[in-house]
Amino acid sequence: MYPSPLVDFGYDISDYTSIDPLYGTLADFDRMVSEAKKRNIRVIMDFVPNHTSDQHPWFKESRSSRTNPKRDWYIWRDGKGPGQPPNNWQSWFGHSAWKFDSTTNQYYYHHFYTEQPDLNWRNPQVRKAMYDAMRFWLDRGVAGFRIDAVSRLFEDPNLHDDPILPGKNAYGDPNIAHKYTDNLPEVHEVLREMRRIVDEYPGNPVLISEADEPNITELTKMYGSNNDEVQLPMDFQIADVNRLSAPDFRQLLNEIDRNAAGGQPHYFFSNHDQPRQWDRYGDGVHNDQIAKLIAALLLTTRATPLMYYGEEIGMRTTDPVRKEDVQDPIGKIGWPQEKGRDGERTPMQWDASKDAGFSKAEGTWLPVPPSAANYNVNAESHDPGSILSFYKRLLSLRRSEAALRDGLYQPLSGEDPFVLAYLRKKPGNGNTIFVVLNMSAQFRKVRFDLERYGVRGKVVEPLISAPGSAGRPLSISDLNIPPFGILIGAVH
Ligand code: NOJ
Repeated sequence: MYPSPLVDFGYDISDYTSIDPLYGTLADFDRMVSEAKKRNIRVIMDFVPNHTSDQHPWFKESRSSRTNPKRDWYIWRDGKGPGQPPNNWQSWFGHSAWKFDSTTNQYYYHHFYTEQPDLNWRNPQVRKAMYDAMRFWLDRGVAGFRIDAVSRLFEDPNLHDDPILPGKNAYGDPNIAHKYTDNLPEVHEVLREMRRIVDEYPGNPVLISEADEPNITELTKMYGSNNDEVQLPMDFQIADVNRLSAPDFRQLLNEIDRNAAGGQPHYFFSNHDQPRQWDRYGDGVHNDQIAKLIAALLLTTRATPLMYYGEEIGMRTTDPVRKEDVQDPIGKIGWPQEKGRDGERTPMQWDASKDAGFSKAEGTWLPVPPSAANYNVNAESHDPGSILSFYKRLLSLRRSEAALRDGLYQPLSGEDPFVLAYLRKKPGNGNTIFVVLNMSAQFRKVRFDLERYGVRGKVVEPLISAPGSAGRPLSISDLNIPPFGILIGAVH
């Protein structure tokens, strides 16, 4: 919602302390924050520190001459020779990460689109300007930031070539490991500085890092060695499990639960950069049931959950069919292998009227998926068996059961290849919550002995189950869970 030429739909910012007139004014923003506060809703901003738009006044100055005071705000280098970029670094969005600029006959570095030049975070003036921008929004009452692409803030000053890997990517470039442009140690210095800024404000403002950390060690570093960096690093490892696999989820849940920093896990399954979970985990037959299973996983494990609009009604990925309909530039660069991210960004489906009730305009920017006729808020609100009704039940259970919010996580299902089961328990009073998720298309018989975990009780009183509805108490030593079945109950 910052002013932006919209090449990367808002991730190319041309002013960090304003609202794009497309969406309203700063006064509208202030009103939204204060009305939200009255309703106990806190507003978190997206913050994009790695790069600006090439239309940002800072970059316009920087590119104007080699001696401009803002020259060193960005990464400018000479080419290796005529027509040759400084090294082999690649843009995440395809092809060389260097763009030649004829005004000064040097190349600038861009990790993303050419219209998104990278800021030079080794320049103290850049840091100050970006921290001032954070303060600008904190002063207006925001409750924290989701920090975009944060692992990409620094590049190797010696410009070593990245290692080449076998094969080619969707853009036809050789695969490379982004060894010299990702996760450099200085990132953590910046995160500590950002944390100190938000900590100056009341109400515990939150930092959320958007970085696809490759393993638990890197993810854990985001919390800081002294819990002095981000409170919630987005867990892309969980989000990137692209198959419904009890062993895969079990291993990752266990790893992050025991992270060395003792940090709070932060899970999500969908966002505006990756195909939606309805299709990603769906088997083509039981997709709605599987959507409920993923919802249960998200909302009953020990984590701060992050939901993406529309997952609660089972919105599906609706990719463009023709190249000429693509909006997201990577879909044009990589067509047909890479269709871009339009498919997960279609309008919210409110009802079955024209354009799903999203807009009264002539047409919408991205098309409304045909599934909106049945998968919409209005229809699902009237159906107790819908995905939306299931999410509502889960969310209200989270509210009423303290163990689900901040109880311990105790894995139960050993090495079971199909079933993921765990307890959530809170020391002291309150229910111990027992969760069993069958990640297969067959009935699965399971039995548990909870005494090993210091929990007395032989029966589970179902609080939520699907398919079907919560029924009589069941014996924990003799359970038969239906295909993709979900059982969430209190142990007695
Ligand atoms: C991550 C954002 O989520 C994505 O949409 C964007 O294209 C890149 N960062 C670059 O800002």
